[in-house]
Amino acid sequence: MNTKISILAAMLLAAPAIHADRIIPVETENVGLVYAVADNGRIYQRYFGKRMLNSADYNVMKNMPEAYITSGMEDYFEPALQINHADGNMSTLLNFVDAKTTANSDGSITTSIYMADPIYKDEVALHTTAYPAEDIITQWTEITNREGKPVELERYASSMLHFDRPAYYLTQFNGDWADEGNMMEQKLEFGKKVLDTKLGARHNMFLSPFFVLSLDKPAEENAGEVMVGTLAWTGNYRHTFEIDQNGGLRVVSGINPYASTYTIGKGQTFTTPEFVFTLSNEGRGGAARNFHDWARKYRVKDGMGDRRTLLNNWEATYFDFDEEKLVKIIRNAKELGVDMFLLDDGWFANKYPRSSDHQGLGDWDETADKLPNGIGRLVEEAQNQGILFGLWIEPEMVNPKSELYENHKDWVITLPNREEYYFRNQLVLDLSNPKVQDFVFGVVDDLKTKYPGIAFFKWDCNSPITNIYSPYEKNQQHLYVDYVRGLYNVLDRIAEKYPDLEMMLCSGGGGRCDYKALEYFTEFWPSDNTDPIERLFIQYGMSQVFPAKTQCAHVTTWNSSASLKFRTDVAMMGKLGFDIRVDELPEADLKYAKHAVKEYNRLKPVILDGDQYRLVSPYEGNYASTMYVTKDSSHAVVFAFNVYPRYNERRENVKMQGLDPSATYEVTEICRQNATKGRVSTYSGDYLMTVGLPMFSGSKMTSSIYELVKK
Ligand code: DGJ
Repeated sequence: MNTKISILAAMLLAAPAIHADRIIPVETENVGLVYAVADNGRIYQRYFGKRMLNSADYNVMKNMPEAYITSGMEDYFEPALQINHADGNMSTLLNFVDAKTTANSDGSITTSIYMADPIYKDEVALHTTAYPAEDIITQWTEITNREGKPVELERYASSMLHFDRPAYYLTQFNGDWADEGNMMEQKLEFGKKVLDTKLGARHNMFLSPFFVLSLDKPAEENAGEVMVGTLAWTGNYRHTFEIDQNGGLRVVSGINPYASTYTIGKGQTFTTPEFVFTLSNEGRGGAARNFHDWARKYRVKDGMGDRRTLLNNWEATYFDFDEEKLVKIIRNAKELGVDMFLLDDGWFANKYPRSSDHQGLGDWDETADKLPNGIGRLVEEAQNQGILFGLWIEPEMVNPKSELYENHKDWVITLPNREEYYFRNQLVLDLSNPKVQDFVFGVVDDLKTKYPGIAFFKWDCNSPITNIYSPYEKNQQHLYVDYVRGLYNVLDRIAEKYPDLEMMLCSGGGGRCDYKALEYFTEFWPSDNTDPIERLFIQYGMSQVFPAKTQCAHVTTWNSSASLKFRTDVAMMGKLGFDIRVDELPEADLKYAKHAVKEYNRLKPVILDGDQYRLVSPYEGNYASTMYVTKDSSHAVVFAFNVYPRYNERRENVKMQGLDPSATYEVTEICRQNATKGRVSTYSGDYLMTVGLPMFSGSKMTSSIYELVKK
C-alpha cells in the first residue's frame, strides 16, 4: 500500500467525529420529541418520551430511524413519503437543509426542519408545533415540487413517529351509525395495523378519528405512558402502526392516500393536515385532559365561550310539522327554560317538498304549505319568547328528486356511465368545483341575509361520497382531497362573514368530528343514539379527545324505560339539549327537566370548562361515574350511574380526583328526583379522594349528582 494513503487511512480511523450531531429538540412542559442531524446529512428521530430534566442527555442518546422516511431507499417498512418523480423514478432521499424555531403569538412554538432531495431538489418542510402547558404537539409537512415537470405524491403523511419499547397496545374506537366510538384494545405484533376510512364525507361513520397507543402495557385510566393522536382533517385519514423485525414501532399518520395520488406542478407545494398528539404519564385520563385544555384554548370555535341549551324538534316531530306546531314547540322551549329552539330537517323545498328523506334536499326555500310565513315567523316567535332560533341544513347534499339535481347534475358527484346508487336516498355535491362552493356558501349566506335572527346552524352530512366521479376535476385522483379543501373554503367564507355564528357539526350522528372541522364549529353531535345507557359509552369514547363542551347530548325518548332524571343526568355531562315532546311530559318529569336546566346553567362553568375525571368506566361493569372540577379545585360536580347492578353485589365507594387534599368540601346531592337538594355533609378533599363516598346503589338505571364546594 502506498505509504501516504495508509497514513491518511490511519488518521481517519483514529480521528474523533468532527461534528457532533446537531440536536433539534421540540419540548412541552412534560414531553420531549427530539431530532438529530447526523454526519450523513440526514435527519433522524432521536427521542420521543418524557422530557429530560437536562437537555444535554439528548446528546448521548442514539439515533432512532429517520424522521420522515422516504420510499425507495434503505428502509423496508412503511414510508412517510413517496414521490413518483417526473422521470418515473420512485425513490426520494432527504438531506437536512436548515431548521428554525418560531415563537407564535398564541404561546405555541413551531420548529421547522427543511430538507431536500440532492438529486431531484424536491423539498420537504417538517413542521412541529408544541403547546407547552397542554403537552400537545401537532405535526404536518409541506412538500414542494422543484422538478421541471409535475410529480405524483403517492404517499404524503403528516407525521411519522418512532417508538422502541417492549410492547405496544393500541386502542381504537370503532362502530357504526348509532353505535359510535366503541373502545377496543389489542396488542400490536410484527407487521401492520391500519386504522383508516375511505368514506370521503361522513368519514368517521365506522371509526372515530383518534387512537390511544399505550407503551409497555395495556392502557390504564390514571397511570402509565400513553400517546393519543388524531388527524385534523375532515376526510379520509389513515394511521399506520407497523412493528419491524427489531420490535421498533412506527406510527405514520395523514390523509389516506387511497385513490388519492396527488399530482403537483412545478413549484407547487402540497400542505398536509395537522396530526395532533400528546404523550401522558397519567394514562388515558391525563391524555384526555391535555386534549380538552388544548381544544378549548386553541382549537374549537369559541372554545373558551359559553354554550346554549336548546330544544330540538327532530324526534318530537320528524318531518311532520307545520307553523302552528312549531310555534307551540317554541313556547315549550321557553317554558323548559332553554336558550334556543332548533328547527330540524323537513322545512324546505316546494316542487318536491321535504316530507321524507327521499326528496327535496338541495332546494333551500321554505315549504309554503308547511310554513306559509316562512322561517321569519318562527324567528319572530322565538324572539317574542326571548329565546334564540337555530336551523338545520345539509348544504353539501342533494336528493335526485330535487330541482337542484334537475338543473345542475353537473354539480353532483356521480359516475357518468353507471347506474347511481344512493346512501340515504341522496348524493354528494361536488365541492371541488368553485361554483358548488359558491352554492353551498350561498345556502348559509342567503338564509342569514334574509333572516339575520338565525343564531345557529346544525350542519348535517348524512352520506359518504358515493359514485366517486367529479364532472369538474381533471384528475379524478384529486377528488377526495379537493372535496375537503372545497369544504374548508366554504367554511372559511362563512367564518369571515359571520364570525360569531355558532354551528353544530352533525353527520348522521357522529360521522364527522375532527380537530380541523371544530375550528369552524362550536360543538358536534356524537351519535343519533341517545339511549342514556349507550350514551354513557359513546360520550366516554368521544371524551378521549373531545371536551364535554363540544359534545351535544340531548334528552330524548330513546330508552324511555330509563327515568327522565337518568336520561337528563347523562345529557348534563355534555352540552345539554332536549329533543322530546315537552307538552307530553308528565308533570313531575317537566318539573325535573326545568330544574335540571337551571342547575345546569349554574354548573356549566364546572362541567364545560373544568377538568374531567372518568372515575368509573361504564366498560368496567355495572356502574359509571364522571366528575368535573374547576381548575382551582374549588367547585366540583360528580355524576354517578347505576346501570344494571346485580343483586347484593359489592359496591365500591367512588373515589374522587382533582380536589385539594387539604381543603374541606361541602358535599350535597343535587337534582334529586323531586327536584330538591339533599343534606349537606362535610369532608376533607383527602378523604373524598382516598376513601371516597358510597354513591352507587342497587337500583337499576338510577343516577345521582353531587356538588362539591370548597369551604
Ligand atoms: C341525522 C341527524 O343525526 C339527526 O339528528 C337529524 O338531524 C337527521 N339527520 C335529520 O335528517
